[in-house]
Amino acid sequence: MPTALITGANRGIGFGLARAFLADGWEFIAAVRDPANAGDVRALATGHPGKVSIEKCDLADFTTIDALGAKLKGRAIDLLLGNAAKTDNPANTIGNTDYDAWIDAFRINCMAQYKLAEVLAENVAISAQKKMFFISSRIGAKPPPGMVFFRSSKSALNQVVFQLSLMLKDRGITVACAHPGFVKTISTANMGVFTIDESAGYLKKIIDRLTMDVSGSFFEPDGSTLPIITRQMNPAAFGAKAPDAWAEQKKAWADAGVSI
Ligand SMILES: NC(=O)c1ccc[n+]([C@@H]2O[C@H](COP(=O)([O-])OP(=O)(O)OC[C@H]3O[C@@H](n4cnc5c(N)ncnc54)[C@H](OP(=O)(O)O)[C@@H]3O)[C@@H](O)[C@H]2O)c1
Repeated sequence: MPTALITGANRGIGFGLARAFLADGWEFIAAVRDPANAGDVRALATGHPGKVSIEKCDLADFTTIDALGAKLKGRAIDLLLGNAAKTDNPANTIGNTDYDAWIDAFRINCMAQYKLAEVLAENVAISAQKKMFFISSRIGAKPPPGMVFFRSSKSALNQVVFQLSLMLKDRGITVACAHPGFVKTISTANMGVFTIDESAGYLKKIIDRLTMDVSGSFFEPDGSTLPIITRQMNPAAFGAKAPDAWAEQKKAWADAGVSI
């Protein structure tokens, strides 16, 4: 049976995803911030003996990600599903910005997702399906203005996902992300359009169909794609180098002892 590791599996969309993969016969590792208080996922584990394990993973504390990696060493993980995020960001206005809170959002929503991928890359590489999938947000592209911490951290996550897709390609790992829709969870004060099970159903369908040729994509819930990053459409313009020129440049840097 394939195995998924899902962060933030105790509530919201993560819980919906956990149920969807369990219903399809998967085993899953619930990586949660506070296992002792993860009552909903504990109930899932009780109802599915031998199928669910619960591990600690606080994305704000990278030592817990390292500890998770050490504990899971050698275990194949078919799907790393980075769902958890800091969604309770304080409002910000010009002249009233909490920069420490902004750093927290970046640490959890962007850097910790990369850290998870880095720590668990070998687990995914030794699996049959070799997939990493992250829950991003389309919200960066939409009015009203504000919510800069959340939006900028998710936009940065998209760049991370794109880079991971390039960096892990030669290990056979497919990496992508999706907007989950506007979903009724605590983070939206239950004002969404979709239930967690509807959103999880859409996301699972995308994940099931993921192949290497769409690695680096940013999906809408219906499976269509959004631009994940601003791509340079004309590499010859504005001083950008063609790939063969980059090889020369990299060699020149290497010869000069510059590490890039
Ligand atoms: N709901 C929407 O309409 C919507 C729209 C766009 C994107 N999204 C994205 O979808 C994903 C799930 O959102 P949701 O609506 O289900 O959010 P949610 O109900 O607020 O749940 C967030 C989850 O993230 C976990 N989490 C928060 N900080 C964490 C940390 N430091 N370490 C580990 N886990 C942490 C929470 O764990 P605890 O249970 O321990 O608090 C919880 O399980 C997020 O990435 C969110 O940005 C949601």
